[in-house]
Amino acid sequence: MRQHVNPLSRFFQLPLRLPPPNDLFTHAEQPIHLDIGCARGRCILGLADRHPSWNHIGVEIRRPLVIPADREALQSPHGNVRVLFCNANISLEEWMETLPKNRLQRVSIQFPDPWFKRRHRKRRVLQPGLLMAIASALQPGKDFFIQSDVREVIDPMVALTELSACFDRPEADETPWRSTNPLSVPTERERYVMDQQLPVYRVLFRRNHTNQPPLDALEQRWQEIDNPSNTPTPEA
Ligand SMILES: C[S@@+](CC[C@H](N)C(=O)[O-])C[C@H]1O[C@@H](n2cnc3c(N)ncnc32)[C@H](O)[C@@H]1O
Repeated sequence: MRQHVNPLSRFFQLPLRLPPPNDLFTHAEQPIHLDIGCARGRCILGLADRHPSWNHIGVEIRRPLVIPADREALQSPHGNVRVLFCNANISLEEWMETLPKNRLQRVSIQFPDPWFKRRHRKRRVLQPGLLMAIASALQPGKDFFIQSDVREVIDPMVALTELSACFDRPEADETPWRSTNPLSVPTERERYVMDQQLPVYRVLFRRNHTNQPPLDALEQRWQEIDNPSNTPTPEA
């Protein structure tokens, strides 16, 4: 069984400056899809091949997966895909902030690591800070797609995203879960889960016109909901 990386360990707290689109892609002006926690990058590499008029970036905290994935990305004839090493909770915010307006057009978080114990909740990838950075970079109408096979993982992601009030679901979408993936290429985990005929919980969110709440207010509300006992718990 593969061990998850603890994103809170000191090594992964070091900020990295991710390169701007001009340094990553042949046609930097194309819209960008960002896939957070892309593992070996099968989905983002496949999407890049199918959609050459978009740029695609995957970020991943496990370097041994990033090295072969980015090697493959650099061989793309379209020059429209890269897979980069970083802790999404430390290094993505600044990168998204510096993107030209409306350049980032889709963000996905697919099958994130299952930190579902309450004492591990700070290790979950979707934290208020990352969500607000995504909400700030996505213009109204742009997509934020999440999926997981674990209810204890997806439920807090949905609750936090709804709490922010910055996203709605497309009107035609089934609730609470979409039965289909809006992306045309499944991830590694998704293929495995589908082969096992296990359930997949998917939500497509779309950025609305609501201004972002102040981060500290969102964090406080989220703390009240996610950790109502409010007792500080030491990280293992
Ligand atoms: C369960 S895997 C799923 C991978 C892929 N999205 C899929 O669906 O097959 C979750 C991935 O997220 C990565 N990850 C976890 N926390 C992260 C973080 N803070 N920043 C970047 N990647 C992270 C893990 O290393 C792991 O590869």
